[in-house]
Parts: sequence; C-alpha cells; structure tokens
Amino acid sequence: MLMGEQTGTTGHSWSSISAIIAHWRSYRHIHRIALVIFVLLTIFVLERYRTALASTFQTSSETRDPIAVPGGNSAAQQENHYEPYPEATNQGGGGKHEEETQLTPEQLLELSQTNAGNSTLGFHAIKYINMKARYDREDAMALQAYMSGLDIEDYPAVEADMIDPVGMPPTHRPGKLKTGEKGCWRAHANIWSEMTRHRLPPILILESDAAWDLNIRAIMSRLNSHFISFLNQINSTAVHDPSFGSPNNHKVHGPPPPYSPDKPIVANPDDPWLSAHWDLFSVGQCFEYTQDHEIKLVYDDESVPEGNDYWGQKMGKERVIRKSGGITCTTAYAISHTGAAKLLLRSALDLDNPVDLLMRRLVMSRDLVSYSLFPPVVAQWEYIGGIGMGERGAQSDINGGKHKDTPENAHMPGWKDVKDTGSIWTTKGHHRDVAFDKMALKEAWTEIIGEEPKKFEESLYNPETGN
Ligand SMILES: *[C@@H]1O[C@H](CO)[C@@H](O)[C@H](O)[C@H]1NC(C)=O
Ligand SMILES: *[C@@H]1O[C@H](CO)[C@@H](O)[C@H](O)[C@H]1NC(C)=O
Repeated sequence: MLMGEQTGTTGHSWSSISAIIAHWRSYRHIHRIALVIFVLLTIFVLERYRTALASTFQTSSETRDPIAVPGGNSAAQQENHYEPYPEATNQGGGGKHEEETQLTPEQLLELSQTNAGNSTLGFHAIKYINMKARYDREDAMALQAYMSGLDIEDYPAVEADMIDPVGMPPTHRPGKLKTGEKGCWRAHANIWSEMTRHRLPPILILESDAAWDLNIRAIMSRLNSHFISFLNQINSTAVHDPSFGSPNNHKVHGPPPPYSPDKPIVANPDDPWLSAHWDLFSVGQCFEYTQDHEIKLVYDDESVPEGNDYWGQKMGKERVIRKSGGITCTTAYAISHTGAAKLLLRSALDLDNPVDLLMRRLVMSRDLVSYSLFPPVVAQWEYIGGIGMGERGAQSDINGGKHKDTPENAHMPGWKDVKDTGSIWTTKGHHRDVAFDKMALKEAWTEIIGEEPKKFEESLYNPETGN
C-alpha cells in the first residue's frame, strides 16, 4: 500500500487517483481491524496466563498450608474442618470464617446444633433416589418433607433398561446380581461419582421408601452435640483423605498426630457432622451387625420409645451412636467424599455384591470408617396389608419389571384400618429396630387435614348416599 501512495502523487488521472485513495483507505481499514484483533488476542492470552498463575498460587498456598479454622489453630480443629477446593472457597465464605474466629467453643457448638437441624440436616444436600414409575413414593416423600421441613433433591434411579452389561464393572461372581440390584447400586454409584468428581461436602442419600419422624430436625439437632462427644470419646482423628492437595493425606503428610484430650475436637458449624472423621454415617439401616457394637455412646432422646433391645441391653428413651458393624439396607446414609471414593473404587474393581453388602465388606475390614445410630432415625415404609398393593408388587423395586393392577375381586380387609387410622403407610414389618415417636406418614392426615383420623371415613365414597 505504500506503493499505492507513491503512485497516487505522480500525475495520473483524477479518477485513478481517487480509486487509489479508496484502495488505500480500505487497506488502512484492514490495518485497523488487524490492530484491534491483535490487541484483543493479547488481552485474551494475558488473561489466560493470569488465571493459570492465580490457580497455581491457590493450590500451593491455600490447599497445602494449614487452613484457616473457626475458633483457633489447634491441630484437632484443623483436621476436622471441611476444606473445599480453593475454587469453592471463593464463593464468599471468607467473611464468615473471620467472624467465627471470635466465637467460643460453646457458641460454635450452638451454631453447629442449629445447622444440624436445618432443612438439609446439616449436610450439603439431601438426595432422594426414586424410580420413574414410583409416583406414589415421590408423593409420600413430598408429604413428609413438607411436614417436617426438609429440602430434598430428586436423583433419578437407574432403570432396568439403562443397564447394559458392557457398562458394568467386572465381577468374580458372574450372574449373582439381579438387574434390579445392579440398577440400585448404580444409582448410588452415580452420586458417589459426582461427589468424587467435585469433591463435594457430605451428602445425605435417601432411598425411595424412606420414612421418618415428624420431628426429624429436632432429633438431628439434639444428636449433634452427642455425636461430637462420641468422636472425642473414641479419640477420633481425621481419616486418610487422598484427594488432591488435602492436608489430611496421610501418605503425603504422615499419620495424624494422636488424639490429645487437651485439644478436643470442637464443633464446626460449616460441617456439623465433622465429615473429615468418617466415610459413612448411616442414619437409616434396617439391620446392623455385631462387630464393634460396644464402641458406643448412649444418650437420652425423648423421641425414642422405650423398650428397645440393644444387643441384650434393655433401653429407655435413649438412642445409641455406635461404630458401625456393617449395615443392611441403604435407606438413609450420609457419605463423605472419602467414603464415596472408596466405594466407587471397590465396586469398580469387582461388582460382586449388592450395594449394602459391598459397604459391609469394607466396614468389616475397617477400610470404611463408618458410624450408625440405634434405633435409626430413618426407616423404610410399606403399605399396610389388605389394600391391594401387595398384589401389584408395590412393596419392592428390586425385582423390577411391569406390574399388574389390583384385581377387582381382591381381598381388601385393610381398608377398615385405613378408616380408623387415616393412614395407608406403616414401617416395614421385618425391620425390628424401627422406633418412631411420630412417624410423619402416619401423622399426615391429622397434620394436614387437621382432623381426627376417623374423619377420613367421611371423605370416602359412601354407597348409601351415593357420594
Ligand atoms: C445446612 O447446614 C449445612 C452446614 O452448615 C450447610 O452446608 C447447608 O447448606 C445448610 N442447608 C441449608 C438449606 O442452608
Ligand atoms: C483415648 O485416649 C485416652 C488418653 O488420651 C485413653 O485414656 C483412652 O483409653 C482412649 N480411648 C480410646 C477409646 O481409645
């Protein structure tokens, strides 16, 4: 274009000069565009480097160094603080921690108890696994959550048609698991996978037929201080945390210092259940094995009816926090990301058992640090007998498949009980450890309609009046 400029000044006809000027202008235009693109590119590249540099900084200074802990700097406090990835820390948590530095252990405990009774029971979230077709269970869950003040997220179950052997882990016992059992395991595994991918704080997982007490928030809040006492009583230290950059990685930083009574584990309102100390915390098994049952703390709980039998010991209005001996049923359990990673790995290596037995194996070998409650706070519900639901196969999902409707001539003496109680739900018969004061589903009629159960009869079809 410099050439164009020169020729333009050496006596050509006017039109050709103006054409050359236009030519030159359009070139200058391109020049400007090029300049703008260049500047934008430079900014973009610098920005990329800046972000990369910043995250390198965060990884080295925030993840590896001792972390800021509410209430002080003792080693015991550091190890039970839940520490999200640096990215997650940026979501405005900083100010809160500074405030909490001023709080006494008593104030921290009070806050911790409050959070343990919040709408997610002190966990990051409550996830509810349900099969697509089970609208009935979805409704029962909704009613319970509504009355007891829980905030529950749906998590899709893995349906039979989503199971293809090609996507299942290897097993040394081919043919042992039913498709329903594989689907059940996979739904849990999907949550574990999500937890490990994002290193999420502890989550409470509920299965579709979970039932609980109307006052579950108060029950969990009361439990909280005793749970912390229990961890102190058993001299708990943080479990090995293999996630990238964790200060609790025993392979990198050595085993944690032994528990010292001078530095008791203190409450942490951000993580009321002190999830660095466990992999799994079952609040809703249907049976528990004997191993480690004597490692326990018993506390008074008004919401527990008296008369339970704890390994030969008659219990009053009391609940037991114990080291788990392995559970059956995964109706309600909390899991930390360390637990999620362990279970994901174990089942990826060999899917040789249903989900609860996989857990039990790891508990019995003491690879999965696990605690539980007796009686559990969550149980399974089923329909009362004689209302036609057994005929539909509605009491279990494990066998899968299509179901037939209740036949018209079904024998249904159960409706008489429904008229008396206002409830079609009861706790699952063969679970002997269930002990509710006010089972939310049984209370639903009285709570929601505000009438005695007898009144339910008035809302039914009456052949005499034809209404
Ligand atoms: C309940 O408390 C926990 C722990 O502090 C917190 O992570 C969770 O977000 C709280 N739930 C709600 C709904 O605020
Ligand atoms: C906990 O440690 C104390 C000493 O610090 C010891 O006396 C006690 O037996 C330990 N308890 C357990 C359950 O290990």
